[in-house]
Amino acid sequence: LLSGLEAIKPDSLLQLIQMASADTRPNKIDVGVGVYRTSNGATPILSAVKKAEKILWERQETKAYLGMSGDKVYAELLKPIVFGQHADDEGLIGLQTPGGCGALTLGFKLVKAARPDARVLVGTPTWANHQPVIEGAGLKIVEYPYYLKEETRIDFDAMIAAFDAARPGDVALLHGCCHNPTGADLDAGQWAKVRAKCAEKGIIPFVDIAYQGLGDGLDDDAEGLRGLMGACDEVIVAQSCDKNFGVYRDRVGCLFVKAGSDETANIVKSHIMQIAREMWSMPPDHSAAAVRIVLENDDLRAEWLDELSIMRGRIKDLRKRIASKDPRLAYIGEQKGMFSMMPLTPQQVDTLRDEHAIYMADSGRFNVCGMADEDVDRFCDAVLEAMDG
Ligand code: LMR
Repeated sequence: LLSGLEAIKPDSLLQLIQMASADTRPNKIDVGVGVYRTSNGATPILSAVKKAEKILWERQETKAYLGMSGDKVYAELLKPIVFGQHADDEGLIGLQTPGGCGALTLGFKLVKAARPDARVLVGTPTWANHQPVIEGAGLKIVEYPYYLKEETRIDFDAMIAAFDAARPGDVALLHGCCHNPTGADLDAGQWAKVRAKCAEKGIIPFVDIAYQGLGDGLDDDAEGLRGLMGACDEVIVAQSCDKNFGVYRDRVGCLFVKAGSDETANIVKSHIMQIAREMWSMPPDHSAAAVRIVLENDDLRAEWLDELSIMRGRIKDLRKRIASKDPRLAYIGEQKGMFSMMPLTPQQVDTLRDEHAIYMADSGRFNVCGMADEDVDRFCDAVLEAMDG
């Protein structure tokens, strides 16, 4: 059986993580994977989360199953954070998932169950795992142009032209905020055009929001998504707490579906429960419980908001510092979240790795907050040298 298998090339991002951790050069700068680091280059557990985990340790009396929905209070507490004024929209349901990736997989399998021939419009470039998840669910991808790497800007006219050519019932994958891998988010006017186009063409928006709070703030970062909620009868949302609660390895997210009516929502729920049952049966509890405890407790919630604001502030400061180094890097100051993309070739990225111990994705994507403060100048100098080379 197994001897007939051919090896699959590992995801380039995962390869990069392995290469960076194996590199023992003391001057290494790892801006590959999307993990927040402090000015000293550490990724500590948030204090609010640590305190919530202590409460959990003291009060939790059993590890017996919670059931297929996981922590139901967790999903309810997230609704106002994600949806604001739309938190109580009719037919809005949420199901706890293992990370944002679990939510994406569950959401796309739901699309497949609802409309087996649905096509998914996916912007280029996008997060490296979107395509495997969508195709793994058995859906067809139709790419739309999103970002011009060399010109460091969104190709909005081409994006809208692709939406114009969509068929009713197509699903459009959109990044809610802090676009991964480019950091180039739609502005308010562009979001308005996208939602008008979705409503006009009968396109169902599928929003991946994994970095809420790391751009301009929890509410600002969700504006585009909330606008879609007002404009479209059906919206699917893959949410993650891995980054904004810093619980990466614990994997906690949520799939939200706005189903148009409570009646349809009940049917949708039966489907996502069945699909989740096949994949993970019941979601892992630990960090969902910790997030729930943070959000239920006024002091811990305030502490989390402070810590989130410190992370966001550091990202913004680093962006400003990098942008001020050279006009060719100025665009980085305008972008949002953990990532931006350098207009570098894969060969230039290799040179940075070999000669300067700088690790970034082949695409030129780098994690703005992956470097320690003391490394910013060296990083920028090396990148500019590579651009000249
Ligand atoms: C990233 O984009 O770096 C993270 O989302 C980690 C991952 O799973 O790729």
